[in-house]
Amino acid sequence: MTTTAPQQLYRNIQEFYDASSGLWESVWGEHMHHGYYGADGSIKKDRRQAQIDLIEELLNWSEVEQATDILDVGCGIGGSTLHLARQFNANATGITLSPKQAQRARQRAAAAGIAYKANFQVANALAMPFADNSFDLVWSLESGEHMPDKQQFLGECCRVLRPGGRLMMATWCHRNGPPELSIQESQLLKQVYDLFHLPYVISLAEYEDIAKALPLDKVCSADWSKAVSPFWDVVIDSAINPQALFGLLSSGWTTLRGAFALEPMRKGLADGTITYGLISGQKQSL
Ligand SMILES: C[S@@+](CC[C@H](N)C(=O)[O-])C[C@H]1O[C@@H](n2cnc3c(N)ncnc32)[C@H](O)[C@@H]1O
Repeated sequence: MTTTAPQQLYRNIQEFYDASSGLWESVWGEHMHHGYYGADGSIKKDRRQAQIDLIEELLNWSEVEQATDILDVGCGIGGSTLHLARQFNANATGITLSPKQAQRARQRAAAAGIAYKANFQVANALAMPFADNSFDLVWSLESGEHMPDKQQFLGECCRVLRPGGRLMMATWCHRNGPPELSIQESQLLKQVYDLFHLPYVISLAEYEDIAKALPLDKVCSADWSKAVSPFWDVVIDSAINPQALFGLLSSGWTTLRGAFALEPMRKGLADGTITYGLISGQKQSL
């Protein structure tokens, strides 16, 4: 666990994504999440296709077939938000801590001709500016790891869901115990926390316990570490090109530190210290 106070953590996260999102988009594209390489990670494919496939596989896994009002929590530059808005012909709202991401997401919605049904706000997932029961799908891809209070995070996601609405979350975890994490595992996690501005991560089993204590039915979890782990080899390869290196150097130390986190992240997923966890559930009817 890092000891950064929440307000400072939020500033660090905002600055990290304000500084790095343009570079990520130009080198890696609109999705700031892992790709899906088949259940055992053995299928070779284009990295951008793998990221789109992850969204489709998550929809299948969570049995989400339709939605009318979608909230994308920790939306980046709106990769999933716009994908889901188009796919379900739905209204979609994305929230992020980064004003630059929100601005870029709005531009992308306008360029795609769907600004009338996709909107983006700078807002904190731990105190969402939405009434209870506002959405029928709450989607969160790889933002839970940034949250300093995981219970509050899942509680807020559940609060804004309508009865019968679906939660779909994918997040970085550490492996389930027992045994307790070793000193080496804790040191590796600390490196990843510091470099990606994560306060701490918890195990998938702990997320499941939190979800089961909320008014959610059909809580399911899955570990997709194998399916996504080839992603880091691909990212590390693609980071070693002149455009990426120039971008990293000119974007300053903050982003450069993020680039150095690629190797601990790859190693942690490969040796099982870090896992890729999924949680889904359906808000109980009143
Ligand atoms: C790794 S990016 C994932 C972006 C997006 N889900 C995607 O897959 O392309 C993490 C996102 O979480 C957001 N985030 C982190 N902490 C947050 C918080 N407390 N409230 C709202 N958004 C947060 C960041 O601003 C960023 O947009």
